[in-house]
Amino acid sequence: MGIAFDKISQTWSLHTADTSYQMQIGPLGYLLHLYYGRRVEESTAYLHLPRDCGFSPNPYELQAERSWSLDTMPQEYSGSNCGDYRLSSIRVETADGISGADLRVKSWEICHGKYSLDGLPSSFAREDEAETLSVILQDEAASVEAELLYGVFPEHNVITRAVRITNCGSAPLYLEKAASACLDLPFGDWELLHFHGRHAMERQTERLPVGNTTLSIGSRRGASSHQHNPFLILCEPSATEDAGECYAAMLMHSGSFRMDVEKDQSGSVRLVAGIQDEGFRWKLEPGAQFVCPELILSYTHRGLTALSHDLHRFIRKHVCRGIYASGPRPVLLNTWEAAYFDFDEEKILRIARDAKDIGVELLVLDDGWFGRRDDDRTSLGDWKEDLRKLPGGLERLVDKLHAMGLQAGLWLEPEMVSEDSDLFRSHPDWALIMPGRKPSIGRSQLVLDMSRPEVIDYLSDLLSSLLRRSGIDYVKWDMNRNMTDLYSAELPPDRQGEIAHRYILGVYTLLDRLTREFPRVLFEGCAGGGGRFDAGMLAYCPQIWCSDNTDPIARLNIQYGTSFGYPPATMGAHVSASPNHQTGRTTPLGTRFCVALAGTFGYELDPGKLSRKEREAIQLQIRDYHRWQKLLAQGDYLRLTDDQSRFAAWENLSGDRSECLVSLVMRNAEANPRPLYLRLKGLDPKAVYILEEQQISSGSEYPGMKQRSFTGAALMYAGITLPALLGDYPSALLYFKRQERA
Ligand code: DGJ
Repeated sequence: MGIAFDKISQTWSLHTADTSYQMQIGPLGYLLHLYYGRRVEESTAYLHLPRDCGFSPNPYELQAERSWSLDTMPQEYSGSNCGDYRLSSIRVETADGISGADLRVKSWEICHGKYSLDGLPSSFAREDEAETLSVILQDEAASVEAELLYGVFPEHNVITRAVRITNCGSAPLYLEKAASACLDLPFGDWELLHFHGRHAMERQTERLPVGNTTLSIGSRRGASSHQHNPFLILCEPSATEDAGECYAAMLMHSGSFRMDVEKDQSGSVRLVAGIQDEGFRWKLEPGAQFVCPELILSYTHRGLTALSHDLHRFIRKHVCRGIYASGPRPVLLNTWEAAYFDFDEEKILRIARDAKDIGVELLVLDDGWFGRRDDDRTSLGDWKEDLRKLPGGLERLVDKLHAMGLQAGLWLEPEMVSEDSDLFRSHPDWALIMPGRKPSIGRSQLVLDMSRPEVIDYLSDLLSSLLRRSGIDYVKWDMNRNMTDLYSAELPPDRQGEIAHRYILGVYTLLDRLTREFPRVLFEGCAGGGGRFDAGMLAYCPQIWCSDNTDPIARLNIQYGTSFGYPPATMGAHVSASPNHQTGRTTPLGTRFCVALAGTFGYELDPGKLSRKEREAIQLQIRDYHRWQKLLAQGDYLRLTDDQSRFAAWENLSGDRSECLVSLVMRNAEANPRPLYLRLKGLDPKAVYILEEQQISSGSEYPGMKQRSFTGAALMYAGITLPALLGDYPSALLYFKRQERA
């Protein structure tokens, strides 16, 4: 049983294989958090020591009893304006202008299986894989109920949380804040590890002490954003990859969000995570419900690698859906960096033939195939072939690609509209524009008002018939600017604060319809690269283009940061041309291969511009990718170095520890170099591993590692030494296979 209730102490225990989460019905029916951490079997209710704390108010009902305050007790879902001055989780305003929330337990139940959320993506499970606890809290005065949902996944050490908020009264209410979860950590010192960045430089790591302050990450952009990822880790200051307590919190949400971490006067740390409340105001009619997105929580005492592994396995099995969630992905070639807007059918077919020749399986036609789109200033919204470029339409192109034995992929940016488009000319009110003001433009485009159901219906009919008639096998779903000018012509004045959230609900509805109707089509998410890389999008798109930056050296840290939360099977990564189009850097083909192998593998170049030697090398790369595909996509990913180290190294290890691929990339050329020592991880210490293959991309002759046979213990404890790798950005791929006992 994952969930148990102890009647005597009024405590729930949510157990996973290695963790326990406990909460208790406290005085006056308040839901108090007790403990989240390493597994314990008994109630930890003894932890709550009542104490009189100056300037911390007491509930009215307790009168002279001053030792109990909402401001000092750990809460499960903090209210507002009722005695807890710390971060609130919910703020409700009544029609009379009374604002606050004072929530107490009304009822609860435990069910088999995992809850789901109306209109929002959420993790899923078979009946026997998860359990759900639902606790209904109510604020009688405001006539509001908050149903706290807990999904327990024992096998993955994951607990998910979500909230459904219902207006139980007879007058409208206004939600001003509606977080997905609050987590109080009454003990310990913590550091915040988070993932920030910018376009083409996403998910860089930063680790900060949680001092006596509030730390906040979030997005007000309408997308989860390049700038912050809706994922953070709280870990002990001493936590490393291999040891130490760590908590992960990942929002399954693709819109604006907010995750705050605050240390209070007693040293307790509170995390509150959910949708962004700045600019948010949601009208809740009597009987209506608002659903808060899911938060995925995980804990381990075994360090950051173990935390990542739990999340990776969980995302692969319980977040990504469809045939591609665990199945092999085709090796694709994307035409963006090969042709940009300058192509016609003949050129695409020539690229396709060359791609087929080197072993590519899926040809993706990127931006520029529709309307009159010769640059990025026009035609978004007019999703009809440009017959100047594709005289036989998409059907003929797709037929020809299929006849060559290639799958066909297509770029779309459904959420956007160009001012210069038939769609905008016929529906100017479908764009986010404020009356009387000129809208901001981004990449010369406007944002469609995805909060309008008619826009979603229009797009779903249009895209569904496009996919049906063309026979497309893959869609790259792009989104190249963030939201501004939030005004919807459709919504009344007191609902304008709902647009940003309704927008993302519209995106999810559209994706849900299309992915259900086309279960065999592979959808790849993209938002100017990794501007919406989150678990919400992963519920529809099992892979997401990690970054517009295809430079393998820049990619080292982008993929490193991404790997803390997300598995390699979700990270779009391609071998592109050299010099690189974003940085101008020249790198060896082998190094570009090595880095792209750490994600969903593909190419982003014109194969016709390759030399014969390069074409032959790529044929071998694709052969190797197929050999290692299962290991790369379904094995564990282990970070062997950090983002500051002189070389980057990582390891892909199969679940049964029988295969191990080690990748190493030099960040800079070195004179008089120190030896390259590397210790492997996760192997079977007693087993013998054979170095079956070593591929080196180096500016100098490389003698290779002489010894071929090692015990797992030697590889892990003593490590290996590579001779110096010289030249610009050399790399090494070492493939070890466990020797099977006779
Ligand atoms: C941004 C994407 O990330 C690129 O790969 C490419 O598809 C362009 N958009 C096309 O406009």
